[in-house]
Amino acid sequence: MEAILQIADQYGVYVIEDNAQSQGAVCHGRRTGSWGHVNATSFYPGKNIGALGDGGALTTNDANWANQARKWRNYGSSVKYYNEVKGYNSRLDELQAALLSVKLARLDNWNKERQRLAARYNDGLSSVADIQLIQVADHCSSVYHLYPIRTSRRDELQQALQKSGIGTLIHYPVPPHLQAAYNDFGWKSGQFPIAERHASTLLSLPLFPGLKDDEQDRIMETIQSFYK
Ligand SMILES: Cc1ncc(COP(=O)(O)O)c(C=O)c1O
Repeated sequence: MEAILQIADQYGVYVIEDNAQSQGAVCHGRRTGSWGHVNATSFYPGKNIGALGDGGALTTNDANWANQARKWRNYGSSVKYYNEVKGYNSRLDELQAALLSVKLARLDNWNKERQRLAARYNDGLSSVADIQLIQVADHCSSVYHLYPIRTSRRDELQQALQKSGIGTLIHYPVPPHLQAAYNDFGWKSGQFPIAERHASTLLSLPLFPGLKDDEQDRIMETIQSFYK
């Protein structure tokens, strides 16, 4: 982010940080979601801090952007029935906000549990030659919204785990430049080889606060025996 912000500064452009998968993470002593000029996050139920339905928030230290966002979420209006700009109906309702306030107080503890489970996976899987583990940047923490591994035998491994009743997910199977929705950009397969390689080798293992150690041990044993 430091490098991105420097480039943005040089060219006079704004940075919008996406904090949807890193709620509570810290980088160089500073929380994620506070680096961009405007920062977006998601309270989709599966997120580290999830609502009981869809929701999201922006964070910013810039009073102008905060005022703009408040208007946009409320039909472009700051005075009832007077619409200054074209806006949306995108308010977070109070019931979701109340639930999220309670959950926010627990976020750091839940993240610690995710980090503990991730460390157990790291210990158990680091010796498997065909598995690459997440690398966390120096002076940064991960809150492991997901625990993706990379392996050349991804589809086979996923099937083997599924046979043992262990669900995994692929985040994400199609990189943005190859999505049908972006056809009009004319991107072709091969133009973003790293994203494409990740899309064909990533597999997210189960990780959530509440996953029991013996359940995680069984997942790791199943993976280890698959590679034997
Ligand atoms: C990194 C990231 N950004 C943005 C989003 C979009 O969030 P929402 O569906 O709440 O708009 C997601 C949701 O999965 C996400 O993981």
